[in-house]
Amino acid sequence: MTGGAGYIGSHTAIELLAAGHDVVVLDNLSNGTRAAVEAIGRVANRDVPVVEGDIRDPVCLDRAFAEHRFDAVLHFAALKAVGESVAKPLRYYQNNVAGTVCLVERMAAHGVKTLVFSSSAAVYGDPGTMPINEDSPPDPTSPYARTKLIVEGLLHDTHAADPGWRISILRYFNAVGAHPSGEIGEDPAGVPMNLLPSVAQVAVGRRELLNVFGNDYPTPDGTGVRDYLHVVDLARGHVNALDYLATGTGVAVHNLGTGRGHTVFEVVRAFEAASGRQIPYRIAPRRPGDVVVSCADPGKAGDELGWTAQYDLRRMCEDLWRWQTTHPHGFRGGKA
Ligand code: UD1
Repeated sequence: MTGGAGYIGSHTAIELLAAGHDVVVLDNLSNGTRAAVEAIGRVANRDVPVVEGDIRDPVCLDRAFAEHRFDAVLHFAALKAVGESVAKPLRYYQNNVAGTVCLVERMAAHGVKTLVFSSSAAVYGDPGTMPINEDSPPDPTSPYARTKLIVEGLLHDTHAADPGWRISILRYFNAVGAHPSGEIGEDPAGVPMNLLPSVAQVAVGRRELLNVFGNDYPTPDGTGVRDYLHVVDLARGHVNALDYLATGTGVAVHNLGTGRGHTVFEVVRAFEAASGRQIPYRIAPRRPGDVVVSCADPGKAGDELGWTAQYDLRRMCEDLWRWQTTHPHGFRGGKA
């Protein structure tokens, strides 16, 4: 798997190993950490080989394909900060699009034609009608989201040119939480951009207060609504996707979400309950580019992959709190 030292990749590695698969991690460690891979090994009680390298480096990829026999590639490696993608679009096209072109070329050269791709609900933009199913027309609103949609397109084209490919495109809604062991979790470098890591850092005392980006949206309490999904549920979805690909060639697109939306204030209250801490906040202006509501219709993943999310918001917050309290400064700060 590419990006296996990152947040979603590391959780997926654990679920794959538990399902009896072998895993090799390829990561350039620009965002992921070696400590995350070591933690995968501890949780799964297995050694996980790591290739430190970049998906844009064909020599490194060729070496990995020569040293290991792969049935499939799970492709997580990407940059994912929406704001940064506006400021530095070419970095995003270079890593996310050119990187995937290089990876898919080397896969084809080595005869590995089964791929699970990490896409994002961000490809939908702000469709207005909820919940969002896979037929909603994509309308990405940031360079980051456009790179995801471009990769989806190049994967469809790759399959059209060579129908031997088996490709699963998974459109993730908002992945949050941490592994219940407390051994792995999200480890944002610098100031977290996303809601749950910010809330957790306020609760643990690393940050003073939470900025709530807008309380005048047309939602029950005025704050934005998102479909938060436990990262372990999301990780399990990849195991199902791999099983599904074993049944035939083609390109499949699936939403992975719970189908339930929560407001920012609901998240804050749930985290207060899970942590026993108060989360001080202030109302800040709306964040440019934010959509009002984003909620998945996960029915197709249920029907075709046999996957549904198991964990609720309370469990997401409890597991995140365990990770945050045992690793207040993430992997980089060591264990508390
Ligand atoms: C963001 C990205 C999305 C990406 C995902 C995972 C945008 C517009 N979208 O999703 O493309 O796939 O992260 O990286 O950036 N909020 C606060 N205070 C905070 C942080 C967030 O009030 O400090 C609110 C937001 O306004 C939003 C909700 O919390 O209503 C969720 O925000 P966030 O966790 O950043 O996720 P998305 O914006 O949905």
